Amino acid sequence: MNDIKTKILELRNQIEKHNELYYQKAQPEISDKEYDLLLKELVELEKANPQFDSPTSPSKRLGGEPLKEFASVTYSVPMLSLSNTYDKEEILKYVQGLYVQAHKNIKQFIKDKYLEDIKESQLDKPFEGVETLIRADVNIGYNGFCKIYDDVLQKLFEILDKNGFLYFESELKNLPKEYDFSYFLEPKIDGISLSVRYENGVMVQAGTRGNGIEGDDITANVRTIQSIPLKLTTDNPPKVLEIRGELFMPTEKFNEFNKKQKEKNETIFANPRNAAAGSVKLLDPQKVAKRPLDARFYGIGESEGIEFVSQAQFIDYLKSVGINTPEDALSCQEVADINLVLDKIETKLNSFAFPIDGCVIKVNEYKFYKLFGSTAKNPRWAIAYKYDTEKAETILKGITVQVGRTGALTPVAELETVNVAGSNVSRATLHNEEEIKRKDIRVGDTVIIEKAGEVIPAVVRVVLDRRPAYSVPFTMPTKCPECGSEIVRRDGIIGAFCENIHCPAQVRRCIEHFVSKNAMDIDGMGPALVDSMSVEGGLIKNPADIYYLNRAHVRQHSRMGDVSANNLFKGIEASKHRDLHRLIFALGIPNVGAASAKLLASEFKTLDNLSSASVEELCSLKDIGKTVAQSIVRFFQNSANIEMIARLKEAGVNMHIIENSSGNATLFEGKTFVLTGTLKSMGRRETTEAIEALGGKVSSSVSQNTDYLVAGETTGSKFSKAQELDVKILNEAEFLKLAQIRNKRVELPSASQGMFDF
Ligand code: IVH
Repeated sequence: MNDIKTKILELRNQIEKHNELYYQKAQPEISDKEYDLLLKELVELEKANPQFDSPTSPSKRLGGEPLKEFASVTYSVPMLSLSNTYDKEEILKYVQGLYVQAHKNIKQFIKDKYLEDIKESQLDKPFEGVETLIRADVNIGYNGFCKIYDDVLQKLFEILDKNGFLYFESELKNLPKEYDFSYFLEPKIDGISLSVRYENGVMVQAGTRGNGIEGDDITANVRTIQSIPLKLTTDNPPKVLEIRGELFMPTEKFNEFNKKQKEKNETIFANPRNAAAGSVKLLDPQKVAKRPLDARFYGIGESEGIEFVSQAQFIDYLKSVGINTPEDALSCQEVADINLVLDKIETKLNSFAFPIDGCVIKVNEYKFYKLFGSTAKNPRWAIAYKYDTEKAETILKGITVQVGRTGALTPVAELETVNVAGSNVSRATLHNEEEIKRKDIRVGDTVIIEKAGEVIPAVVRVVLDRRPAYSVPFTMPTKCPECGSEIVRRDGIIGAFCENIHCPAQVRRCIEHFVSKNAMDIDGMGPALVDSMSVEGGLIKNPADIYYLNRAHVRQHSRMGDVSANNLFKGIEASKHRDLHRLIFALGIPNVGAASAKLLASEFKTLDNLSSASVEELCSLKDIGKTVAQSIVRFFQNSANIEMIARLKEAGVNMHIIENSSGNATLFEGKTFVLTGTLKSMGRRETTEAIEALGGKVSSSVSQNTDYLVAGETTGSKFSKAQELDVKILNEAEFLKLAQIRNKRVELPSASQGMFDF
């Protein structure tokens, strides 16, 4: 073998060994200086011999060329979030729900299993009877079994009522082990969700959570994080392993880093989480390499060629292949143990190297995950317990009033800046006038504020002894602070409203909502542009005006270059083809959220039908109450709205439910697609939704299992890989034809639901 190549490989192995000793085992064998010398030698050799370049070389950790923007990554297994609680009682209720669910399943399972006759005598002692029968695997017969089992459940619920849940659980433990589950507890790291994909043991991609299905491709940045291996330390790596974890800045490193930033007069971050988020979103990987970032991994995404039976086993596996997992994670058999662990971790919150805001309680056995299912956002097999919120005392300097999208006025507390839970807080919501009255909050008061995680800070109470003598109760202004119109109170509704639909604050917020990701998703239309075109420019007075913008307007109101302006117009054009439910949501009808918009779209099929629906018709739909129905009817009767909708229609904005002409939800069954580049007619998310609606799967990278690569205008790395692997490549027209999409119409199923509700 070539000498230089041998030397390069040797250096890489040596450096990797020292990386592992330092970052995984915390047992360094050489000094930092010696390490730097090895790295320097490698970098120089690689530079002089580019033919030996490798994506897994430790030199890649120094960061490559700056990027212009992040590409996007799509997850075939979504990155979900967790439901939270601050209350230990709620954990009991949650676990109880799991048991009820598990037992429904057990019952079905046993019903399917025991179909033979039963001895009458065994009905006498139902609880013991069924237990013995199940254990001995005796044929007890379907009817006999059901009777016994119902009695058992009945008895169990009686026990539950009488003795509380803990006793119930211990009774259930008498059932055979295979029906039972245990828990796995991990500290909840307060950082940024991260997904890292390994193919055949090599890191090929890293991404942020984004909307859970599509995130930013931050591979180049993540490669610079020393503790995340570029290669798994195993001789037998799985074909695909996507791991999910948390990226963070260790607390101590954060303090040092902020100090240095201050000395250099550069951005200071409010807390470690913001510092991690700000760092990973830098477009220059060389800068990221200088930020002290770290990560721990605790979850699994897409995988192929490897299976795990439990979280405990998965975490052990991660450790064995060089991936760091959260310290202090452990299994628990009983609910009572969960509380012990939560208490134990609480006492040592500050001794973790990273910020912790709670604990995640997970069902340990993976076979139960399917049974418990997930909602669109959260799995039901896990819950986060968050430690008590942090409180702080400060002075209320003033109360300002903000005008929301629907004209509702929200009073906001302007505070003397104070640090709570690691963030600097200078504003807090006061919700509405009634709330201020109830808590008797006055300007000049010393107030206690509270902040929990990402939740907006709130004023909890006033310290009355320190109230200044001059203070007076707060009164809501009688005129809108933004446009001066009279403030109106609505019958039966709490709060005050500005009813001037031309109010600049309302206009701005309406437009921001209309263009936002979950609404019409207009790329390139950021808040600054909305601001300059709506408030200052007066060019966009309502959403329809967006479709009548021309290049001269854009030039006049922004400093956009030609490329950004082109993207903006592409974004506006693409938004004309969004599905009806997005348009309904985007219109910002008061009380109509994304879920109701989906329901309304699938019921009424066109905006015209919806706009002529009566209150009675609307109320007959499940989940639409009278307030929502009235609000919809009022919206479509308003003359300004009627005019705006007419102009949207004239501009060519789609007003129909997009239907799949084949109506075939299995057309793509078993087929895996990968997307690359941008399609002219549909956004990436829309394309993903369309493929999934037809029963197909979308994966983020090309492999032998890929059936089709859908390629927009591009010839990037996915394209060449597809060519290499002989994967069928479809251009836009070919894809639309294959999907039998005419006029880009594809029917989407309603939001994914878990298997059970409890
Ligand atoms: S499990 C399906 N485990 O908390 C979602 N999440 O509030 C699985 N987090 O999005 C998440 N530490 O970013 C899990 N030990 C841990 C965690 C953890 C921090 C984050 C994660 C998640 C968020 C939910």
